[in-house]
Amino acid sequence: MDRVIIFDTTLRDGEQAAGGRLNVQEKLEIARQLEKLGVDVIEAGTPVNSQTELEAVRTIAREVRTPVICALARAVPGDIDAAWESVKEAARPRIHVFLSASDIHIMHQLKKSRDEILDMARSMVARAKQYTEDVEFSPMDASRAEPEYIYQMLEAVIEAGATTVNIPDTVGYAIPGEFGGLIEGIIRNVPNIGRAVISVHCHNDLGLAVANSLEAVKRGARQVECTLNGIGERAGNASLEEIVMAVKTREDFYGLTTGVDARQIYKSSRLVSELTGFTVQPNKAIVGSNAFRHESGIHQDGIIKMPITYEIIDPRTVGVPSSSLVLGKLSGRHAFKERLSELGYSLNEEDLGRAFLAFKELADKKKEVTDRDIESLVAEEQRTVTEVYHIDRIQVTCGDRGIPTAAVRLVGPDGKLLADAALGTGPVDAVYKAINRIVEMPNSLTEFTVKSVTEGIDAIGEVLIRIESEGISYTGRGADTDIIVASAKAYMNALNRLIAARGRKK
Ligand code: KIV
Ligand code: ZN
Repeated sequence: MDRVIIFDTTLRDGEQAAGGRLNVQEKLEIARQLEKLGVDVIEAGTPVNSQTELEAVRTIAREVRTPVICALARAVPGDIDAAWESVKEAARPRIHVFLSASDIHIMHQLKKSRDEILDMARSMVARAKQYTEDVEFSPMDASRAEPEYIYQMLEAVIEAGATTVNIPDTVGYAIPGEFGGLIEGIIRNVPNIGRAVISVHCHNDLGLAVANSLEAVKRGARQVECTLNGIGERAGNASLEEIVMAVKTREDFYGLTTGVDARQIYKSSRLVSELTGFTVQPNKAIVGSNAFRHESGIHQDGIIKMPITYEIIDPRTVGVPSSSLVLGKLSGRHAFKERLSELGYSLNEEDLGRAFLAFKELADKKKEVTDRDIESLVAEEQRTVTEVYHIDRIQVTCGDRGIPTAAVRLVGPDGKLLADAALGTGPVDAVYKAINRIVEMPNSLTEFTVKSVTEGIDAIGEVLIRIESEGISYTGRGADTDIIVASAKAYMNALNRLIAARGRKK
């Protein structure tokens, strides 16, 4: 097989990252984008976790028809039944069963014998197989388990019907040569391995998730489990964009391909960052804001003469928009629409109308409107669609003498105008307190970050915040040329998510 199967777990392991919660609509939006990106498998969630999670997986299974839709289950009957319940309407459903395989886990966490674990693995794969042909099995913590035991377990689950066997480096402990050796050992020592695809699932605790995955591919693995922007538990998972671009850029070395449409990578990365609230570090390979920027004079000189001198990937191949000035105050609706479509957005007339008004407002404040500004603006428009409360106006006074004061007016659920005012330690604190007096949703602010979208004093400021309520974290984002307004929008965005989640619980 000369094709690597790309198994995306952004919506499952990625969403497991601390503070990365997504609602059903957001999960669906990402799943649709993953379909455009061309991934082979979408692991959409762990349905037994909650009714909402089950609904999210079911919605994706109904709506996203090209990739395989996979649900994760522990090796217990209830999990497997819930997994099937969520994916049974998919065009191509998969159940992914996992069970610990290292003595560390078996003895200290599961407190069972190796034989008992083997029986559980065999019988739960058989249970999943009664539901669907496509069953994946993962011996969790495989990289710290005894290889002989892994061989035995894989032989048993393949016999019971597993069609993919996934080797997880659950705690990111493996080293490339060693992990590749494990894959070779599996190929040599599991007699029925030819009946299953070998997959790998690497975590990034030592910063080796991508290296380990690629080494495994070199030694015979043909499915890689990964996430966009490398998000996931702790230090994250192997990053999809790095795996795909390594295989593509170094086809001479790997002799393999993937089904991914690389031009969709940048947009997919932005969407995940936007919806999860996890910003991408500037020097992140492939999708970081500096990934294709050349600062040194010698490099710039080379790039001007011939890009290949210092650029191994043309940024356009991964869909990075040009950073040149695109639109301004005099640009019309048609030009704006054209630019949006070049950037991969197709808005309906109503959304387009709203986005165009916001663009005009921005162009009045800002001389140069770049692609990044337009992306931020569209994201802002998309965020406001599901608002229960929205900001009508904000007024603050602050400075080094007076007491920071904010007056806020919101449009409430029935279109009612609700106003209040508050004092704070600073203008943002005052605004948040005034909003709290109106909305009355107790929470604590756990994270607050401001960054500018582009350079310059007139740049748009993007604010990311996280609030926590009853142990659950909610992310909010807001953008505006005024950072107090952007902060208020971000807070409103997070509060609206909290309100929506509460509404679902009732
Ligand atoms: O890291 C891990 O071991 C997992 C399994 C469920 C595959 O995420
Ligand atoms: Zn994992």
